[in-house]
Formats: sequence, C-alpha cells, structure tokens
Amino acid sequence: MKQLFAKKPLSLLLEEMKGENRLRRILGPVALTSLGVGAIIGTGIFVLTGVAAHDKAGPAIILSFVVSGMACVFAALCYAEFASMVPVAGSAYTYAYATLGELFAWIIGWDLVLEYAVASATVAHGWSHYFQDFIGIFGFKLPHSLTRAPFDFDPSSGLLASTGTAIDFPAIIIAALITAILVKGIRESAGFNAAMVILKLVIVLFVIVVGAMYINTENWTKNFAPYGFTGVSLFGKTIFGQTGLGGAPVGMLAAAATIFFAYIGFDSISTHAEEAKNPKRDVPIGIITSLLVCTILYIAVAAIITGIVPYDKIDIDAPVSNAFKQIGLPWAQLIISFGALAGITSVLLVMMLSQPRIFLAMARDGLIPKEFFGAVHEKFRTPWKSTILTGCFVAVLAGLLPLRILAELVNIGTLFAFVIVCAAVLIMRRTHPEAERPFRSPWVPFIPIMGILTCLMLMFSLPEENWLRLFVWLAIGFVIYFGYGRKHSVMHEKITSGEYVLENNNKK
Ligand code: ALA
Repeated sequence: MKQLFAKKPLSLLLEEMKGENRLRRILGPVALTSLGVGAIIGTGIFVLTGVAAHDKAGPAIILSFVVSGMACVFAALCYAEFASMVPVAGSAYTYAYATLGELFAWIIGWDLVLEYAVASATVAHGWSHYFQDFIGIFGFKLPHSLTRAPFDFDPSSGLLASTGTAIDFPAIIIAALITAILVKGIRESAGFNAAMVILKLVIVLFVIVVGAMYINTENWTKNFAPYGFTGVSLFGKTIFGQTGLGGAPVGMLAAAATIFFAYIGFDSISTHAEEAKNPKRDVPIGIITSLLVCTILYIAVAAIITGIVPYDKIDIDAPVSNAFKQIGLPWAQLIISFGALAGITSVLLVMMLSQPRIFLAMARDGLIPKEFFGAVHEKFRTPWKSTILTGCFVAVLAGLLPLRILAELVNIGTLFAFVIVCAAVLIMRRTHPEAERPFRSPWVPFIPIMGILTCLMLMFSLPEENWLRLFVWLAIGFVIYFGYGRKHSVMHEKITSGEYVLENNNKK
C-alpha cells in the first residue's frame, strides 16, 4: 500500500535531471511553440470538423471550438505551472508521480499512451484521407482494398460494419516514414517540423482569407444550431439535449467533445522539457502561445467552413478542401489538400516524438523495462528502440481500426489526463506551497477547478461506449503494473531499503 501512494520527491526529480543519459538541450521558445503548433493543427480541424458540423452541431460548431478551447486553456495553465516546476521529460506522468503517488503516475502514464500513440494512429488516418483526396485531384486512385480500415462504426445502427476493404495502406506508410525520421534525431526533426508548421499556418490563413470572400451569412443564420446547444449524456442516457441515431448525444457540446481532438498536442511540449534550453521559462511560453494561436485560428476556420457551405453539405472525409471545391474553386482544393497533408505530417511527427519520451520517463522509474524503453541511441541520442516500437504500434492500429473509434478513445483518455493534471496542481499548491514556481497559474483554485469541470463535462458528452473502452484500457494497464511495474519500481527498492520513509510524506 505504501508503495502505491509513494510520491516521488520534487528534490529527487530535479536531481535526476542532472544525471547521465539525458537528451540534448537544443530547443528555444520559438522551436517549442512551433512544436506545439506542429502537434495541434492537423486531423482535428482538417477532418473531424466535417463529422462534427454535419452530424452534431451545424454552424454552432463555432461555439464548440470556443468551449473546447476554454477547457484546454484551463488545463494548459495547469500544465504550464507544472512544466515550469518539474521540467523533466515525463509530462503529466511525472507530475502525477510527484503529487499523487506511483499508482496514479502509472495510470496517467498508461493513459498518455492513448493520447500519443493512439492519437498518432488517428492522425495517420486523417493523413490518408487527404492523401487520397490529393492524388484524386490528378485522377489517381488506390485499389479499394487499401483505402481504409476493414470495419467502421455505423452511427445509425450503433454497430461495427465491414467496409469491404483490407487495410489503410497510406496510413501505414506514413507511420513508417515518420518513425525513420525520428530515430535519426530531434535536431533534424525540429527543422523539418518548422518547415511544415510554416506551410500549414499559411494554408490555414489562406482558408480564412479566401473563404471570407465567399461567405453566405444565410448559412449561419438559417439554422445556427440544428441539434441544439447541449448534448451531454451520463453513461448512455442523454441528460441534456437531443439523442442522435445510434443513441449518442448530439448538439453543440457533443460536437465540442469530438473536436476536442483538434486541440490535443499543446501539452506535448511538456514532454520535451528535457530538451529545452531554458525549460522553466520557455515551456510555459510554448504551451500557452501555441494553444492561443490555434484556438483563434480554429474558431475562424469553423466560421468560414460553415459560412461558405450549408452544414448538411459539409464533406466528412476532407471537409476543408472539399468546401472550396463546392464553391467552385478547385485550385484552392489542391492547395488546401497539399497544406493539410503537410500539416497533418507535422502532427504525427510531434506525437510520435512525444510517446517514447513518456516511456523513457517511466523506464527510468523502473515501471517498464529499462533496457528497452530507456535505451538512448549512442550516436543519435534518441530513444530509438521505443520510437520503433511506437511506430509499429501506430502502423498496426492505423491500418486496422477506424478513425472515429480511435479519435473518441483518444479524447476520453486525454480529457482524463487533463483532469488529473488540474487536480495535481491543486494538491501541489497545498502540499508544497513553498516550492519554486517560475510560472504560476493565475486564479488558483478557480482555474484548476474549472479545468476539472469542463473536461469532465466533455468526457460525458462523448458516446457512452468510450467509458467502457477507457476502463478496459486502464484494466490492461493495471495487469502490467501489478505484473511488472510494482516489482521493478525504483521507488519500491528505495522504500524496501528504508531510504524514502520520510520523503514519502510530502517532504520536499
Ligand atoms: N490536434 C491534433 C490533430 O488535430 C492531434 O491532429
């Protein structure tokens, strides 16, 4: 029992940062913000906006982006406070270890695999959609069997149905390519990422500026919220708003829970704290700046898409580029498809870069095998073994499972991680009031409490089966923890040897 709730002392975390086998410190504030934007703008805005506007919110999706953005701003302020206090690689996993103890740290670390590895598989699907849209403009088509996952969720029946295909081949290829780039190293990846980020920002601005000239305000005013402004369910029973086909809630809030995926990624900056030149200052700057920039852009893009095309005509696979096709600008479709491809590539790059860094932090604590997950390549200084493992996992998931199921699973997992980080800030302020906080979240406890409430609300707005999937995922995690992690934990050794008796009880 003692071990399950043993907290990692802050002083030890800071001490560990000075140790051997560290990653190289090469990232400044601009590179970190660019990594954040790189991780944020991708499949969410370019793909999921379609299904959310078409099936769940109509033009009220503009407000969905505001609500989801607010939940993320609350969580981002909490992340920023932690990232400045404990600027090591593990992100929310490390914060939980310092505040809530080993068991929670494990839960969150395992949950972050959903956020990064499973999100990467989702993003690879989005890449595949735009790739197929792009080559389609030139008249090329992949064989049908290679175009998407072999089954998909059918919202009208609530059941899984065969799609008549075998695998999503482009998704597998892009996962393999990104893995190869990442094994080589972060300096090269940061340069590649910066180029992609600039390109996608230009494309997003292009969508906003060109689209603004084609807005028909009737598309907004005629039926702004066809599915209402709510859409919250409690374990399968809609408590606010309308229920859609298949029993899931619909409405502005339900769409907010779907497009929440578009915001995921700002927190990945905290997984790079160890590679930052001045993590205490630059990591909070990166987190907050990248999130604010993307929030403003998203609200604008959502307004444009719903302004230029009636909501029920919005395409589900490639909604942004297709909207421009519908208003008679095929050349714009070409530019946007290309930009979306580049943008989504950079998301994959950062997400697949982040996952091995979480594993690295967990391996250093002995919760997963150190020889494998803790291995840093001699020449490239990258966690190469776990990068390759992550790449294989992403490729298999992306090849075989459908986008919708993956995206919702990622959302519920990430929202859960945000709830824990917000709670951890509250706890840390009580238990370690004196600890140095180079960045302090304003209005504590208001901000963390609002973060917890808004994230919980979005979790409840997701279709019910996601809770089940989350519990199954966590149950698998428990089996691994009790089968391996607990016995090999470094903390366990120290407790057994008597080293941490006092420190466990919140001594700094
Ligand atoms: N926010 C990232 C995306 O939308 C995960 O692709």
